[in-house]
Amino acid sequence: MRNTNNACTVEAAGASQPENGPLVSLVGAGPGDPELLTLRALRRLREADVVLYDLLVSQEILDLIPERCECICVGKRANRHMLPQEETNRMIVNKARMGLRVVRLKGGDPFMFGRGGEEMQELASEGIPCEVVPGVTAAMGAASSTGIPLTHRDHAQMVSFVTGHRKKDCDDLEWVRHLNPASTLVVYMGLGEAPRIAAELMAHGHAADTPVAAVASATTPQQEVLTTTLGALAEALQGSGLVSPVLLIIGSVVTLHADLYPLIEQAKRGMVEAA
Ligand SMILES: C[S@@+](CC[C@H](N)C(=O)[O-])C[C@H]1O[C@@H](n2cnc3c(N)ncnc32)[C@H](O)[C@@H]1O
Repeated sequence: MRNTNNACTVEAAGASQPENGPLVSLVGAGPGDPELLTLRALRRLREADVVLYDLLVSQEILDLIPERCECICVGKRANRHMLPQEETNRMIVNKARMGLRVVRLKGGDPFMFGRGGEEMQELASEGIPCEVVPGVTAAMGAASSTGIPLTHRDHAQMVSFVTGHRKKDCDDLEWVRHLNPASTLVVYMGLGEAPRIAAELMAHGHAADTPVAAVASATTPQQEVLTTTLGALAEALQGSGLVSPVLLIIGSVVTLHADLYPLIEQAKRGMVEAA
């Protein structure tokens, strides 16, 4: 296993200067399964001199980074920031100015609740060009690995992606008021706030028997799925032992899990046996 201690410098010296001056790549690592990395993401990782990565990036993906590359964990989880965002930004700028090939590696997609836009703006203000390599966002990974299509002509024609993580000193989950009960709702970072989210949704017209799936560590061997209803969510989570990262999928598409998940598992077993 690759050594991923913070700042596990191997030999950044001797790194090749990008041909046209500094360039930073904001790369999406996907939800965890390394086979969901894009070819471009893999190429950027192989060419990188420095990779600054988040806690959500899986070890299997970190293992794909060449030994000569410096790896720095700047990870964040709700309420457990390892590095303030400003410090991460400063580090990216400094490494890029040194002429190193810098990859900022983020879980899922950099532009989906990933602060990719803020980091890109910061780089632009420093005059450093930046590209974005998209990744499979957790919602899409969870949908395909649990057999819960986020849209389906018989169930939902619309899907909303929201965050359950409120800003400090803000008491509001403002989006709750605008949601259509007939659509699918995917809540990122909603585990801690789940009881409150469920209560607010029900107060704003969502039925207590609306199906809910809580999906932990989607696409990884640790994946767990709990299915319940809005009315029973708080209690179900309490005894579940589910740990972050968790996505909540809310809406009638969740009922498809019972039929589609066994097919996904069956196909997976078939592929393992054939290999
Ligand atoms: C800061 S957001 C980052 C989202 C990421 N940029 C994306 O596109 O998936 C972190 C949240 O994403 C969700 N998440 C990320 N990876 C996940 C996974 N493998 N399984 C379930 N939820 C995941 C969780 O809700 C977690 O709290």
